[in-house]
Amino acid sequence: MSVECFVTGGTGFIGQHLVAHLSAQGHKVRVLMRRPERLAELREQVARLGGNAAQVFAVAGDLERSELGLSVADRARLRQASIVFHLGAQFAWGLSLQQSRAVNVEGARQVALLAAEQKSRLVMIGGYMLKNHAHLRNIGIDPQRPQLTDWPAVYRQVGGYEASKLEAHFATLQVMSAQRGEMTVVHPATVCGHSRTGHILEGQPLAALIRNLVQGKLAAVPGSPEHWLPLVTVDYLVELLAACAFDDAMIGQELLALDERTPHLRELLAQVAHPLGVKPPKHHLSLRLMKILLSVPPIARLLNTSVEALDFIQTTRFDTAATGQFAGRHGIVKPDIREALQLTAMFVNAHCLGKGGSTRQQPPVLCKLSCRVRRQ
Ligand SMILES: NC(=O)c1ccc[n+]([C@@H]2O[C@H](COP(=O)([O-])OP(=O)(O)OC[C@H]3O[C@@H](n4cnc5c(N)ncnc54)[C@H](OP(=O)(O)O)[C@@H]3O)[C@@H](O)[C@H]2O)c1
Repeated sequence: MSVECFVTGGTGFIGQHLVAHLSAQGHKVRVLMRRPERLAELREQVARLGGNAAQVFAVAGDLERSELGLSVADRARLRQASIVFHLGAQFAWGLSLQQSRAVNVEGARQVALLAAEQKSRLVMIGGYMLKNHAHLRNIGIDPQRPQLTDWPAVYRQVGGYEASKLEAHFATLQVMSAQRGEMTVVHPATVCGHSRTGHILEGQPLAALIRNLVQGKLAAVPGSPEHWLPLVTVDYLVELLAACAFDDAMIGQELLALDERTPHLRELLAQVAHPLGVKPPKHHLSLRLMKILLSVPPIARLLNTSVEALDFIQTTRFDTAATGQFAGRHGIVKPDIREALQLTAMFVNAHCLGKGGSTRQQPPVLCKLSCRVRRQ
């Protein structure tokens, strides 16, 4: 059965793969685009990723604008959408409370209102930190009573991106509960490249980590031997997202998209370093010390990272049994994360390093849309 879908964030990394997957399955996909004149470019990318470009259409709009900046005609067209996938977000470190709230929280609220009003199922992307309840309590959020949260204090502690994603989650749940809308939330770990091609976009956190390793900016392993950066491949994530959207048992449910076989960070860096012939760091540097170093702006610039990125490196383990059962029910097979990591490392080395970062040539087509995200 083919349906109409509305996707926000469809030009981004996860979004491109989701649009390719949905259109390949025969669904008509309308993508919210700040620059709809780039539809041809998006269609080319969707086709390269295995999708059906002819099934992809642009809807001009912006998460930051009132009622998403949709025209009356587009609003009417979107009523045909059975599923709304909300992936759009300003994904960067160093965002102010105002910036990140405007796009990530208010934008999510607007998308939820639209989905509820037109009775579309909402599939929303959260983040795996929402499944780390000890972390939430540490930063002042009681997941049972989020309305008591002092949000500006949370923004000060963890930065605009993470805080706005957390606030957006609870704000969206509240809208959908008040409007009696149907919603499923998928919480991804840090996203790894495609398990068969390694395809990833340049602005992704994992691509930045690999680039820093290749460029010799990672002299030590952040954290202790117990620390890890949980990952999920983009193709497994997209299959879970699409399956959730068509499974009525998932209404009102949340799913954690995380590969618990992701190695500890030191081994992860060794996996990445191996195919590139670079030396991985061996010694650990505590996160506390790294945070102190990174609070000095020239050091943060030199190391090309931010304190905000360190929060995603942790020792907590997660229960993914429910996800495993869901994937099994839908015949979704989890790819080998170590192989995916090595392919991602090779893809980043070949396509996503700036001049001087690699001796290799800049790529042809595959990086076209990818590199754009970083440069904006
Ligand atoms: N990647 C990860 O490791 C990861 C992990 C956990 C959760 N997530 C979540 O997954 C979602 C997608 O992430 P991603 O990695 O695919 O991000 P991405 O590559 O940075 O893409 C972000 C998308 O959001 C769109 N966007 C940004 N601001 C917008 C605005 N004002 N109006 C309309 N669209 C706007 C961008 O459109 P333009 O083309 O116009 O810029 C782009 O399509 C986000 O919600 C993110 O928080 C990601």
